[in-house]
Amino acid sequence: MSGPIPLIVAIDGPAASGKSTVAKAVAAALGCVFVNSGGMYRAFTWWVLQKGIRPDDTAAVLDLLAATRFSCGEENGVGTVSVGGTRMTRTEMASTEVNANVSVIAAIPEVRDRLVAEQRRYAERGGVVMEGRDIGSVVFPDTPFKFYIDASPEVRERRRRSEGITDSIARRDRIDSSRAASPLVVPPDALVVDSSDLTVDEVVERVLAAVRNRRMTP
Ligand code: C5P
Repeated sequence: MSGPIPLIVAIDGPAASGKSTVAKAVAAALGCVFVNSGGMYRAFTWWVLQKGIRPDDTAAVLDLLAATRFSCGEENGVGTVSVGGTRMTRTEMASTEVNANVSVIAAIPEVRDRLVAEQRRYAERGGVVMEGRDIGSVVFPDTPFKFYIDASPEVRERRRRSEGITDSIARRDRIDSSRAASPLVVPPDALVVDSSDLTVDEVVERVLAAVRNRRMTP
């Protein structure tokens, strides 16, 4: 006997669009697990750098990938990831080195295949709100709950600066949008929310209202 279909909410958008903050609040309101898929690409990038491998040495990255065990779980409603038995700290994952190299690693199709398989596993365990670049287009294309959170480049740059983080947002967006494997796109059936002039609460409310609305409309 199969149980109820778990709720899957896909939230995509460019770097620093505010999607992580929004996804976390939406997950809490819906009683779902919050998963930041970018954290998985960041964790593996950190691991690659840690091993002294150049991110553009694809053959070496693939050898390491084959030898690496990922462990993705959940703690207090938030997805966790360990790579090679090591859990990265938030500081490591948001480091300047990781910011500068993550898009190159995330463009490798084999890396994506491994991590997408881990991401899909969350939905087998229960409701999930996942944010990233290809969640609505590739990871969960069948969910009716798709959102694309955008913000102007100026607002996004300002947000990162105010966090004190060095991040080449424009460069990452360029690589993420132009890569062959699962580029950043607006899924055709996604609700687009421009967060430039909205508060976090306003964006969260729009997403929650749309989820409730779509749940009632089969
Ligand atoms: O979301 P965040 O900015 O932390 O993601 C870091 C990087 O991970 C992105 O710039 C992108 O290269 C990659 N990513 C991806 N697909 C996802 C999530 C993140 O390629 N679903």
